[in-house]
Amino acid sequence: MKICVIPGDGIGKEIVAQALRVLDKVTEKFGTRFEIEEALMGGAAIDATGSPLPEQTVALALAADAVLLGAVGGPKWDTLDPAIRPERGLLGIRKALGLFANLRPASLFQELKHACYLRPDIVAKGIDLLVVRELTGGAYFGTPKGVEVRDGERVGFNNMIYAEHEIRRIAKVGFEAAMKRSKRLCSVDKANVLDVSRLWREVVLEVARDYPDVELSHMYVDNAAMQLVRDPSQFDVIVTENLFGDILSDEASVITGSIGMLPSASLGEKNPGLFEPIHGSAPDIAGQDKANPLATILSVAMLLRYSSTEKTGDMGPQADAIEQAVRKTLQQGYRTGDIREDGCKLVGCQAMGDAVLANL
Ligand code: NAI
Ligand code: MG
Repeated sequence: MKICVIPGDGIGKEIVAQALRVLDKVTEKFGTRFEIEEALMGGAAIDATGSPLPEQTVALALAADAVLLGAVGGPKWDTLDPAIRPERGLLGIRKALGLFANLRPASLFQELKHACYLRPDIVAKGIDLLVVRELTGGAYFGTPKGVEVRDGERVGFNNMIYAEHEIRRIAKVGFEAAMKRSKRLCSVDKANVLDVSRLWREVVLEVARDYPDVELSHMYVDNAAMQLVRDPSQFDVIVTENLFGDILSDEASVITGSIGMLPSASLGEKNPGLFEPIHGSAPDIAGQDKANPLATILSVAMLLRYSSTEKTGDMGPQADAIEQAVRKTLQQGYRTGDIREDGCKLVGCQAMGDAVLANL
C-alpha cells in the first residue's frame, strides 16, 4: 500500500513520526507492506517552495492509496495573506482529492472518563459514535450567495442546495460506515422546515433499500444537538449535511474532552482518502516532546479500515489491533500532558509511542 505522508508544521512531525513507527509494527505483525512518500504542505511547504500546496504534493497524494496528515499552520505564517496561508493547503488538497465525506468519531475511552464534560451517569453508558458530514455541498457552496442592497437595506444570503447524487453518495458512506460498526444509522435533517431536507430524507430512504441490515432512524438537527449531550450512547453513526455536520461534529468531539485523542477521515468517491487528527499544530508545545500522538495513531487505524482494497485485503484486523493497543496503553496508565490525571504515568510523545508499540 502506498501512503503519502504529510507531517506539516508544529507538533505534526513529532506525532507523525510515532504513527510511522506503528505502520512499521503493522508490517512486522501482519506482513502488510507500506511504501511511504513524504510530502510538504502548509508552513513547511511555504518555507521551501513559496506555496502552501506544491504541485508535487498533489501529484504524490493522487498517486497514493491514502494520505496521512499531521497538522499545518503556526504563528510564523499568521501574517501572510490568507490566499497563501498554510490552511489554504488543507482546503486545496481536500478539493484536489474530491473529498466530500468527513468522518469524525467521538469515542470516549472509559480510562479517560475524568476528562469528559458530561455527568458521570451519562458517561458510564459510554460514548462511541461517528459523525459523517457532507463536506462539499450545502449552504457553504450553494449559489446564488452574497450581500447586496435591496429596498434600501443590506441583505445577506446563501443557498442550501443539494443535488440527489450528492445526497446519495454521502448517504452511502453513512450506511457503509454503519455496516463496519453497530449497524445503526441516524440521518439528521430539518425536514419539518427545509425543502432541501425533505429531498435529503427521500434519498436517504431510497439508499436504505440497499442496506436492509442497517437500522435507520431520522432526527431533526435541533433535537440531535440536544440528544448528543443528553444521551450520546443512543448514537452509532450520524449522517448529515455540511452545516449541520460542522456544528454537530464539533459538539460530539468536545464532549469527550480530549482533543489529543480524536482521529478523522475525509473520503472521496475512490482512494486516496485523507486521514488526520482533529487537532491543529499546537505551536505552544511543538518541539518539546509533549504532544499526544494517539489521535494520529488512531487516524492510522482509520486509514487502514477505510482504505482497504482488493490489493491490500480487508485491513480491519490491523485497525482493530492498533485501537486495542491504544486502549491497553491507557489501561496501563500512560498519559501525555493533555490527558494527565493524579497517579498516572506521565510520558512524552516518543514514550507514548513506545508504549503503544510494545502493546501492538
Ligand atoms: P490546536 O489544536 O493546535 O491547539 C489547541 C490546544 O490543544 C493547544 O493548547 C494545544 O497545545 C493543545 N493540543 C492540540 N493537539 C494536542 C496534542 N496532540 N497533544 C497535546 N495537546 C494538544 O489549535 P490552535 O491552537 O487553535 O491552532 C494552532 C495552529 O494549528 C493554527 O495555526 C491553526 O490554524 C492550526 N490548525 C490546523 C489544523 C489542521 O491542520 N487540520 C486544525 C486546527 C488548527
Ligand atoms: Mg468546525
